[in-house]
Amino acid sequence: MQYKQKVADYLAPMLEGMEESAIVDMLEYPPNPDMGDLSLPCFKLSRTLRKPPQAISEELKSKLEQAEWLDKVEAVSGYCNLYLDKESFLQQQLTEVLTAKERYGSQNIGQGRTIVIDYSSPNIAKPFHVGHLRTTIIGNALYLIFSFLGYHVVRVNHLGDWGTQFGKLIVAYKEWGQAETVEQEGIGELLRLYVKFHDEAESQPELEDRARAWFVKLEQGDEEAIRLWKWFVDISLKEFNKIYELLGVSFDSYAGESFYNDKMQAVVEELKDKQLLEEDEGAMLVRLDEYNMPPALILKKDGGTLYHTRDITAALYRKNTYDFEKAIYVVDAGQSLHFKQWFKVIERMGYDWADDLVHVAFGKVSLEGAKLSTRKGNVVMLEDLLTQSIAKIREIIDSKNPDMENKEEVARQVGVGAIIFNDLSTNRIKDIVFSWEEALNFDGETGPYVQYTHARCCSVLRKASGGSSIELPSAESFDASQLLNEEAYAAAKQIALFTETVEQAMIKMEPSLISRYLVDLAQSFNRFYHHCPILVEDDELRKARLALVQSVRMTLENGLRLIGLEAPRQI
Ligand code: ARG
Repeated sequence: MQYKQKVADYLAPMLEGMEESAIVDMLEYPPNPDMGDLSLPCFKLSRTLRKPPQAISEELKSKLEQAEWLDKVEAVSGYCNLYLDKESFLQQQLTEVLTAKERYGSQNIGQGRTIVIDYSSPNIAKPFHVGHLRTTIIGNALYLIFSFLGYHVVRVNHLGDWGTQFGKLIVAYKEWGQAETVEQEGIGELLRLYVKFHDEAESQPELEDRARAWFVKLEQGDEEAIRLWKWFVDISLKEFNKIYELLGVSFDSYAGESFYNDKMQAVVEELKDKQLLEEDEGAMLVRLDEYNMPPALILKKDGGTLYHTRDITAALYRKNTYDFEKAIYVVDAGQSLHFKQWFKVIERMGYDWADDLVHVAFGKVSLEGAKLSTRKGNVVMLEDLLTQSIAKIREIIDSKNPDMENKEEVARQVGVGAIIFNDLSTNRIKDIVFSWEEALNFDGETGPYVQYTHARCCSVLRKASGGSSIELPSAESFDASQLLNEEAYAAAKQIALFTETVEQAMIKMEPSLISRYLVDLAQSFNRFYHHCPILVEDDELRKARLALVQSVRMTLENGLRLIGLEAPRQI
């Protein structure tokens, strides 16, 4: 039950000319519980109803007082404050969670319609750095959220697997590389070769010519060039996959930039036919002056294609292949102009679905002050970050709970969870500063804190069942009148917000709404836990409190899973 919806259903017939959804949007959660559970600011209705706010609120009050699911209604300075009947609310809310279980919070909004999400998309032979971490984590969370809400999601890893750099890499490898070292060291060695190429090319400019020649060979399908390139791709993917495995992320398509090689010519023709292409010093571009943007480069002087060419081609391909309702690109904010430009090109090509292309931008990550970038040399490889986090959590477990079973597994779940959660802890567009102390703090607003609270619920439930099960003996039989205290009610109200939080996270494409929600729910549960002993003698009281614990646990688990974390039952 989304109780804003319930109130809107009830109010709509009383407010002529008002859409239910408009009423839902108008309803507010008062800043403190003394002012009710929900509040309708009636001044927003004054215009439509042509009455002063106080008169509207008085009128609504007299009508609403008949609703048996409301305890009382107050008309205060133009606001209509609603107080839910606590007992029936608690009974319904917890029953709903206990019945829906792992589906609690889900809705069928998408009805099977398709969303394509382009995320992670690292570059071959380049490190998977902390910037790629964010797109992977945000993209995966969006995939989980959209799926939970009834969409069919196609997960695309648009690998950066094409470009002149492969010509350089081939030259560098043939010049200074060794197969065994590349096999052993992977991307680290490929990167070293690439850097060496640039150093050497300063004094030996002919290296550049050789690199260009090799790239041409690659484009023409030369056997050796293709073999080396494929090898670089495999070596890189092997490393990326280790990270994806740790994060629990997978994809439906790895069609990277090279996939579009044979599809770009047709698009260039189409641009020409539509008279969008202009020549400029031998290069071909689409002017975007009218939109105050620099032109989108389509072909280089030598006929080579560019990042724009590939993205435009990929979008057309995806529209034809998947017939998406929306295509989402989870890419750092530094590329905003790139996306604005080519979205505009699609629009000018006459495709009305240009409006369905969305750039989901996010801010930079820095490591306690130092910016993380490949160029500056302080590359923090993501795999190191994850394994370090796991090791640190392992230490904490060893000192606090040395006898725990499957320590290894739990350390991974919590260590990885800490990193994911940290990335989703604020609005994605904000830059984040990574700090070990903050990310791993079991008492902070962190993944470990939420996971620990979930494990605490499990531990209570296990004790209650006298064994290893965390299931309630009989889910529906509890008496909500046993839960009429402030802490229990506050926790249940928090549980009730889950469904709309998930929906908002989807609408705003902002998984951090769920992370913050989970911290609030965990905090409100912990207040309940400290005030109300659960495993009490009194049978009815214990049953009711356990029903609340189970509902919180279920909601925490669903929420954690939606943002890509696991919910271990013991920590
Ligand atoms: N490979 C690019 C990078 O690492 C990101 C690609 C994003 N996706 C896209 N369709 N442009 O910066």
